[in-house]
Amino acid sequence: MSEITSTLATAPLAQVETPLLAVALAQGPALPASLAELDRAAGGGLARAIASGDFKGKRDDSLLLYPSGGKAQRILLVGVGKSGEVTRSSIRRAAAVAAKRARALGATQLAFAVAPEARNNLAAKDLGQVIVEGAGQGAWTFTELKAAPDDPKPDVETVAIVCDPKEATQVAAGQKVGDGIAAGHRLARYLQMQPGNVCTPSYLADRAQQLATAYGFGLTVLDRAALQKEGLAALLAVAQGSVQEPRFIVLEYRATDGAALALIGKGVTFDSGGISIKPAQNMEDMKFDMSGAAAVLGTFETLGRLRPKINVIGLIPSTENLPSGTAVKPGDVIKSHLGKTIEVINTDAEGRLILCDALSYVRRFKPAAVLDAATLTGAVVVALGHVAIGVMGNDEALLAEVREAGERAGERCWPLPLWDEYRELLKSDIADVKNSGGRGAGTIAGGWFLREFVDGFPWVHLDIAGTAYTDAEPPHQTKGPTAVGVRLFTEFILKRAGA
Ligand code: BES
Ligand code: MN
Ligand code: ZN
Repeated sequence: MSEITSTLATAPLAQVETPLLAVALAQGPALPASLAELDRAAGGGLARAIASGDFKGKRDDSLLLYPSGGKAQRILLVGVGKSGEVTRSSIRRAAAVAAKRARALGATQLAFAVAPEARNNLAAKDLGQVIVEGAGQGAWTFTELKAAPDDPKPDVETVAIVCDPKEATQVAAGQKVGDGIAAGHRLARYLQMQPGNVCTPSYLADRAQQLATAYGFGLTVLDRAALQKEGLAALLAVAQGSVQEPRFIVLEYRATDGAALALIGKGVTFDSGGISIKPAQNMEDMKFDMSGAAAVLGTFETLGRLRPKINVIGLIPSTENLPSGTAVKPGDVIKSHLGKTIEVINTDAEGRLILCDALSYVRRFKPAAVLDAATLTGAVVVALGHVAIGVMGNDEALLAEVREAGERAGERCWPLPLWDEYRELLKSDIADVKNSGGRGAGTIAGGWFLREFVDGFPWVHLDIAGTAYTDAEPPHQTKGPTAVGVRLFTEFILKRAGA
């Protein structure tokens, strides 16, 4: 797994010795004054690139220069858009663009600087954090399953954050957070990337065990027999079509006496749809149906490294969803852990079945707040595309808090309403609730279903089906898994911990 180490560089820009110096620049007609010295040392190419209009500084714009002098072998200009609109996310993204380019160039070292004119008053700590996060994201790759990669490139080994020595302490504080988040991000993407025949429910449990051992977390893993004993019948119903045993994984990170936050992640390691089978086209992508679980495990990797003063419980209901002679069928009625009965209309609406039992189980921890992340509905892609997470919940203050964490994290959330009118979608003739509401408002129906099982705690549901992975190749990340949720969860937790 490509792991990138971050360092600080406090030399003036023109003095940074590196195979690749990336500089984040805002949109503008001329070279910012802060880069004049670098440009002189480099032979004037920066000013010419901007004056000619070849480099405009728009978001994702980049231009590679081979300077005729100075200490950097290459200089990469990276655009962040209008200076007044620059956020943490713009800088994170620029760092990711730079790191992705570094990998393509075969540069094992990257130095990254933000032109002060492009900083828009961002705090030094924020800069340190998001540069490390972005570099880790952009440099990521997965070649483990190829005998020989098509285009072998060395890993990007280090990112040096170039900063003013006066700000080094604050930048280093952010760097530390960024390192922790980058590690969680890396783990989540790695787990997401694993094929379904490798990443099974018991594999996820093994990975949770590794985390528990490494960081001293509490761990409970329920197997099929234990699930029967506990009465997690909705999870068992989904699992009954597969020879792979389900697992219910509970990780506990404890660092205070206070109440715990709970994170629940959907861990369907392959979703064929079951008896209500999916079309073959792109079905292979359904290995990503454990992305919520990956976000929870990734966040625990981050927690283990950062050790904030707070308690966090991670819960992962995990199973495959397969058709077979033993599989749950449309029309079956199951009795959930909470006691409500569920008519299974569509076996492909399995995520809500396993999550509803987790939402019921979590009550024993008396959580201060519960967040769940799930690749729950194709409908969220119709509503929001691949840009935003769909959020729903039962508590406006918590919703606002989560959305704010999402903004800081660069994992934006957009709310959908859980109005009473939508509850009608789930009315069953035979049971307390049915698991599918038909064609309209699919994401809301999923959210409403979960809400039926939320009893006594503030809760927010994140539908990450549109954001967990990409088929396209954007400039700031490799196509495939995005680890969405790790940064949002971490930002949420750190803020709650007062860190
Ligand atoms: N895992 C899918 C949702 C999904 C779709 C994730 C596309 C990622 C990309 C989920 O289990 C599912 O199949 N949902 C159904 C629900 C329907 C049957 C009510 C869907 O979205 O079609
Ligand atoms: Mn499904
Ligand atoms: Zn699914």
